[in-house]
Amino acid sequence: MKLWGGRFAKSTDKRVDDFHSSIGFDWRLLPYDVAGSKAHARMLARVGVIRGDEAEAICRGLDDVESDLRSGQAELSTQHEDIHMNVEYLLTERIGDVARKLHTARSRNDQVALDTRLYLRDELAEVEERLVGLERALIDLARQADDAALPGYTHLQRAQPVLFAHHLLAYVEMFERDRERLADCYKRVNICPLGAGALAGVTYPIDREFVRQELGFDSVCLNSLDAVSDRDFALEFMSAAAIIAIHMSRLCEEIVLWASSEFAFVELDDAYSTGSSMMPQKKNPDVAELVRGKSGRVVGSLVTLLTVMKGLPLAYNKDMQEDKEALFDSVDTIKRCLEVLAPSVETLRVNRARMSEALQGGYLNATDLADYIVRQGVPFRRAHELVGHAVQYAAGKGVGLEALSPQEFRELGIDVGHDVGEALSLQGMLAARAAVGGTAPQRVSERLKAANEGIQSLKVPRHSPA
Ligand code: ARG
Repeated sequence: MKLWGGRFAKSTDKRVDDFHSSIGFDWRLLPYDVAGSKAHARMLARVGVIRGDEAEAICRGLDDVESDLRSGQAELSTQHEDIHMNVEYLLTERIGDVARKLHTARSRNDQVALDTRLYLRDELAEVEERLVGLERALIDLARQADDAALPGYTHLQRAQPVLFAHHLLAYVEMFERDRERLADCYKRVNICPLGAGALAGVTYPIDREFVRQELGFDSVCLNSLDAVSDRDFALEFMSAAAIIAIHMSRLCEEIVLWASSEFAFVELDDAYSTGSSMMPQKKNPDVAELVRGKSGRVVGSLVTLLTVMKGLPLAYNKDMQEDKEALFDSVDTIKRCLEVLAPSVETLRVNRARMSEALQGGYLNATDLADYIVRQGVPFRRAHELVGHAVQYAAGKGVGLEALSPQEFRELGIDVGHDVGEALSLQGMLAARAAVGGTAPQRVSERLKAANEGIQSLKVPRHSPA
């Protein structure tokens, strides 16, 4: 007999049971379902809807059900559809009739919204912790890289030199924004929907403030229809997760490029690379590739839930059960990717020689020559044109701009002094980019220090586990 079986003359077709059951994946809401039910039972006793001893029996029973399930002494069943009904069923088996009072003034619609929010609240902290781990790896590698420089690229064409540390810290900026997005998402996750009932509110004198406090929520949902049908909080997390995945994917794309023989800017640690079953010489950046690939499913999960929600009338609809697999997959995938990417990054070996080789021959100091001319009072557009000619001339000779003599410069219409060599040198070019945000060593070491301080504090509030 189903817990809701009263109005049915027949039992459900087995295929329907299998089809609409969510216990195969929502089992992981167990600790949150128990925590939510305990708070609810205590509240019911507090306002006099059930007796204090009944609430106590229910709470004790819920703890027992949870530990029985964990130890394998009790089992979940598709017969009971989802985690909520499984817990209630097992509770009834365990403590008898008093268990039937638990669902007073509650619906699975506000219950599932509650459980999902409690679950996600914990996972936000877990994701943040792993994000910080990846940031720490980037910061450590940036420290090791010291003053190693490489070409910065636009259009994947060599453009201007940058410190490798500066390049790595660009990703730290991205992941810091991601942490802020998680912290912002938390604000809308940590709101209590319990008390909305099925959709319209409940007829009992419930104390929502008490439940809010018990469960550590910041506030309560103020519209019952919205409370049971809102999944924005999950969508927001999944959007943030998709952006994190894209950031990781971009970093991984660079690792794949850098680890290729064509670039050879870095070497992967053996523990974080893999071989080929046929070609004995291969060392493949599989971790980076797979993280890049998994960004597809994180984006996919977001699109799944957006599409599920599109066109749903208020309030709860069974379609919304589809939120969970997408949300869980998004959480799991992001966590696993962050976990494996951090040590892969931290153990990269920087090949300074290859980086500096790549700085040669690409006229990476052309902008600096133009800037040099501008400092003599020449308008930038004119300087740009003069340097363009100089590049054409030097390329014809097969040499760099720094190899041209004062005489040759003069013939090209460019007036140079003794200081031109310094301006066109790698050190000169880097040091010149000294405005805030630039790649000058001084600026980069300031940012490195700030980044390291930044990751010492967490942005997502922590709760003791349910
Ligand atoms: N398993 C359901 C879900 O995940 C719980 C809510 C079901 N509510 C209902 N009225 N059928 O969404």
